Amino acid sequence: MTPRELLQKAKEGHFAVGHFNVSDANQLKAIVMAAQNMRAPVFIGASEGERNFFGLEQLVALVKIYRETTGLPIFLNADHTKSFQECAKAIDAGFDMIHFDGSALPFEENVANTKKVVEYAKEKNPNISVEGELGYLRGKSEVQEYVEIKKEDFTKPEQAKEFVEETGVDRLAIVFGNFHGIASKQEEHLDFSVLQAVAKIIPEIFLVLHGASGVKDEEVKEAIAGGIVKVHFNTELRVAYVGGIKKAMEENMKETTPYKIFPVGMDAMQKLVEQKIKIFGCRNRN
Ligand code: G3H
Ligand code: ZN
Repeated sequence: MTPRELLQKAKEGHFAVGHFNVSDANQLKAIVMAAQNMRAPVFIGASEGERNFFGLEQLVALVKIYRETTGLPIFLNADHTKSFQECAKAIDAGFDMIHFDGSALPFEENVANTKKVVEYAKEKNPNISVEGELGYLRGKSEVQEYVEIKKEDFTKPEQAKEFVEETGVDRLAIVFGNFHGIASKQEEHLDFSVLQAVAKIIPEIFLVLHGASGVKDEEVKEAIAGGIVKVHFNTELRVAYVGGIKKAMEENMKETTPYKIFPVGMDAMQKLVEQKIKIFGCRNRN
């Protein structure tokens, strides 16, 4: 199965596949264990910072081993890649999916750069799936108090149509009230009228929800019913993982054996991923 075939299956089956970010091998193992328990497909994501810490080739090799040993559709995405050069590095290293994030660029520049990435990617690997991003997604994958929400940042349907026609992407990250991270003093709400309008104007494109940490389960489900086929989680996983490690260390300050400390964080992360998989409706969809 290719990433595109999996996304198509999700679209036809009205479910979504979870995209979970990692920066180390423990997190990757926790996600794979959750996927195995749920018999679910998963996307593993790594932003530039995350994959540079992990090692690009190392991450590609491990994901491949997990895909082969579990027999599950597990694919690797180069998340939020901000330049053509970094996209090319990930494509050359063997990533299954690329996300070029030119959302901070003027529209024409975003189009030109995304198109260049699509052309390079398809030439190197015809099965690769490429995502573009349109609209301005605020916040960072951490706990913040507030994140400013402006309607003018939201994806404009007409522009989305032009963007996909010009670039040839098969996935599009859209902005409709979502932001990266968790806001401790604010509620995150999605604007479903924007999702509906985008889904209507570009029905052939796989729509992606970024920044799902902090979004209520009911709204995530509604977004999936509205056409979202890939849901990105990072901050909630980081909080669970690091929180578990801190707890293990506080409970036994003398412990120095890594494999007695890290599993507490990994278990917390695995449980969270399993919960998310149930919400996405992708359990037993392997
Ligand atoms: O690409 C990564 C995701 O959009 C992460 O968002 O940290 O709000 O879960 P999140
Ligand atoms: Zn994101």
